[in-house]
Order: sequence, then C-alpha cells, then structure tokens
Amino acid sequence: MNLNYKGQKLFVDNISIRNLEKRNVTPFYIYSYKKIRDNFKTFLNTFKKINPLICFSVKSNSNVFLISELRKLGSGADVVSEGELVKALKAKVNPNKIVFSGVGKTENELLLAIKKRVLLINIESESEAQLINRLSKKLNRVTNIGVRVNPGIDPQTISKISTGKIDSKFGLPKTNFLNFCKNIKKYKNIRVRAISVHIGSQITSVIPYKKTLNVLSKLIKSSKINFEYVDLGGGFGIQYANKDKKINIRNYSLLVERFQKKMNCKIIFEPGRFIIGNSGSLISKIVFIKKNGKKRFIILDAGMNDFMRPALYGAKHNIIPVSKSKKKIVGNVEFVGPICESTDTFLKYKNYSLLNENDLVAITNVGAYGSTLSSNYNTRPLASEIIVKNGKIKVIRKRQKISEII
Ligand code: LLP
Repeated sequence: MNLNYKGQKLFVDNISIRNLEKRNVTPFYIYSYKKIRDNFKTFLNTFKKINPLICFSVKSNSNVFLISELRKLGSGADVVSEGELVKALKAKVNPNKIVFSGVGKTENELLLAIKKRVLLINIESESEAQLINRLSKKLNRVTNIGVRVNPGIDPQTISKISTGKIDSKFGLPKTNFLNFCKNIKKYKNIRVRAISVHIGSQITSVIPYKKTLNVLSKLIKSSKINFEYVDLGGGFGIQYANKDKKINIRNYSLLVERFQKKMNCKIIFEPGRFIIGNSGSLISKIVFIKKNGKKRFIILDAGMNDFMRPALYGAKHNIIPVSKSKKKIVGNVEFVGPICESTDTFLKYKNYSLLNENDLVAITNVGAYGSTLSSNYNTRPLASEIIVKNGKIKVIRKRQKISEII
C-alpha cells in the first residue's frame, strides 16, 4: 500500500492526506511515485536475467503523466485502443516499445498503429491479419505482427477476468493458430515476429503460467516458425488484503529463464496491476451516516462511477480512516456510495473505528483499474488524480467540470 499512519493521521509518503483535502475536492485519487518506481524495479530485477521488454498495460491506468514516468524508468506500453495508443505516444513512448492488443481493432485504429510502426500488432483472428495485410499493402508497407494464441488454460482467478480458457473470445485456438502459421506465406505485407498470450488477471499461482509455457513450447515447435519475440502478457496478482495469496514471480522467472534458453527468443511482459495496483488510493469524504434497521450506512461522496471494481466483480478493497479514533462503532457498518443503485456499495465491516460525518476515508489499492474504469454515470464528474513525487504534490488530472460533460 502507498499509505502509512503517523500517530493517528494517514500519510502518503510524507504528505498528510488531511492537508491535501484542504485544496482538493473529494473524491480524488492519490498515487505514490515511490511505490510505482519500487514495483517497476522489483519486476525488472526479478526478471533481470531474461532482459525482457516490459510494456506497461495502459488499460490498468492510462494517466499520461504516469505512462511517461514509467517510460523514463524504461517501460514500453501495451495498448488496446486508438485512445490508449495516442496517450502512449503523447507520453513519448517509443513506438518500437508499443504492443497493440485487442479482439476488435477497427480499420482506423489499425491504420494509426501501422503508420506509427508499433513494435507489434497482436492479432486475435485471421480476419484481422487479412485486414492488416490489405491496409499495409495500400501503404506499401510490411507490418510486424504477433499472433495471440488462446492456450485453453484456466488461470484460476475470478471468472470475469479470465481470458485464456478455450471458450473465451481472446486469441486463436491452438488448431487455428497452427493453420494460420501454415498459411502465413500468402500474406506478403505482414511479418510474424511474435507469439503472444495473456491468460487472465489477478493470478496468484505460478501453475497456470507454467502450463501456458508448456503449451507455447509445443506450439512453437509445431509451427516451425522462429518467433523473435514471445509476449507472455500480464496478469500478476497482488495482495489486496494481508490474508491474500501473493504470486511468487521469482519462481515464475526461473521457468521463463529456462523457456527463453530453449526457445532462443526475446521476452515481452505486459504487467498492469503489479506495477500500479498498490500505489493508489481513493480519498473520499463521508456525506452522511445513517442507521437503517440494524446496519449503519456510511455514505461516501465516492460512488461506483468513481471506483467500479466492487460493483463489477465483488472486489474487496479495504477502507481505512484518514484520522484514526480510539473509540469504536459497534455493530454492522457498510460503506456505500451516493448513486441510485444497490450495487453502489464498497465494503461491510463488523465494528469499525469511530467515524463522523465530514471525516475522510481512503479506499485502498485502487491504482489499477480504478480511474480507468470510472464513468460519468449520474452525470458525476471524473475525480482528480494527484501524485506525490519526491515530497511534492502534483495534480496529474484535474477534476472534470460538469460543463465538460454536458
Ligand atoms: N495484456 C493484456 C492483453 C490484457 O488483456 C491485460 C488485462 C493485461 C495485459 C494486464 O493485466 P494485469 O497485469 O493488469 O493483470 N478490470 C479488471 C482487470 C481486467 C484485465 C484485462 N486485461 C479488474 O479490475 O480486475
């Protein structure tokens, strides 16, 4: 987490959140640069022997300032839309470090990626390969592609964020992949440089990754193609609560080292959550506290439009007070948002530190898939984003104005 208590007060690095709130309207996202850098370096060091290209998965957090900071640390970008590609370019990521994934890339999106000469467009169907070939021919180009394979593996995570199972929409099933490889010569304007895979997100065991490497080894051998790159995707799970299992990326790195030696290829990773997940919190103010039946509802000014993971996946993100009290609320407490939906609820607790109306709380570990999943539902403006870097505060996205939504 990016937070720590000094006495009873909550801080991000050395900045008091209470003081931040005096100048910023709640709710707002707050990130710790130090945490992001430490996570990136941990990832880099763990896989040092492989010397991979790390393409930060922009969908997890697409703030241009953050993409740019990661670029300065050596990261590339994994993008899935024209908007994300434009953001990565704006953050000055070298196109030679950009991979473009997605099952439904449109002609316009592909044209931009072709013109910018990104490192790889990871195709997910033969139709997409045909379209890229046709567009590249018109431009008199040969475009580099990767072929995303669906390995038919259960990543053992929440089903809503599994992507590598045989019945999921992603990638080419193994037989289609091998047929495509046989046909590859007929496409004169594309060059296959990579095989790619991404089996799911918030994966906490190395076993599904190990199975994936085995499938890839066999497929590469049968395809008789020398892939210059193997793009192993992202998915590395983080600890949302102390009791959560944590993935042992060190063990995974040993498997990838062996795989790389055997295959003699360059490795690409596309981590999102691992880099940014525990670097951010959403700071929210308590609007009202009320008791309905036996339950005490703490109504926040942040709603499911600001942070959607609990409503969408039933995800649990701990909520902690910005000023701790020694007194307690005894009984059932539920933190909810202001939106007119019953799913606009964050978390339930039995007993909690005493809170009053207008107090602040922090919803924790929301750096990944927090701001990027937010919306204007109920015509609510997007929250601002703030970073603490080297003891200084910087607003990296201003709170949206209502006039900008209308
Ligand atoms: N590469 C590809 C092709 C992906 O589809 C994804 C995530 C990633 C990389 C990055 O995965 P990560 O390292 O962050 O796990 N909204 C969901 C997560 C959806 C992930 C979609 N794909 C959530 O909030 O849990």
